[in-house]
Amino acid sequence: MRKKLLVGNWKMNKTMAEAKSFALAALPLVSYAESKNIDIGVCPTYLSLDIVKKTNPKLIIGAQNVDYHTHGAYTGEIAINMLQEIDIDWALVGHSERRSYYGETNASCNLKVKALLASAITPLYCVGETLAEFEGGLTKSVVERQVREGLKDLTKEDAKKIVLAYEPVWSIGTGKNASQAIAEEVCHFIRTILDDLFAEVSEEIRILYGGSVKPDNVRTYLSSPNIDGALVGGASLQVDSFRALIENIAE
Ligand code: PGA
Repeated sequence: MRKKLLVGNWKMNKTMAEAKSFALAALPLVSYAESKNIDIGVCPTYLSLDIVKKTNPKLIIGAQNVDYHTHGAYTGEIAINMLQEIDIDWALVGHSERRSYYGETNASCNLKVKALLASAITPLYCVGETLAEFEGGLTKSVVERQVREGLKDLTKEDAKKIVLAYEPVWSIGTGKNASQAIAEEVCHFIRTILDDLFAEVSEEIRILYGGSVKPDNVRTYLSSPNIDGALVGGASLQVDSFRALIENIAE
């Protein structure tokens, strides 16, 4: 049985002071979620990682990105050991905004996933098609390539440690969420690829849905057999809404 997982992606929102006050207000949510057997986490900006971790150490805290080089002349980037120094052990890889605005490719994602795994950090690898690809009937071929190329060369042991998120780009921040049927169909399809790549361990890998997830639709997604949680942008920014997301998926 895969444990439910709810992750907030704050994107470029919240000053350090705002992030700290969320982390404080979320202290009771951690024990509530634990009692309901749900993992919860947030991905603040780099600047706020440390303060959120110190304020709420039991919350899963992920970086929104990372570089795969160990150090050197990569202006504006952050290395994995810098995350480890402040006890951050999750990172998003390949969010569609990184792919579309900053040139992230399946190949660069693969380097990041492998570098993170080598450092015992959990990669939350994001995939999903654009609106044009969706309308062109290309969803499965795009997602298949993203999964196969992004997870290339991983062993079964590695695969057990990753989390995937299916986020159709046309549903992110638009209020146009994918229907439960589409989300489940693609997440099921992803699991068949994982099964092909990693055989019996594919059932252990969590797959999240993301894209306009709100407190009033999160339960529907999570009632689908291949959707184990949600990656949430806008609705994770306010603690009341974050609490409602957790409450609405609790049994
Ligand atoms: P959204 O963002 O929930 O605001 O649509 C989701 C994401 O980008 O992860």
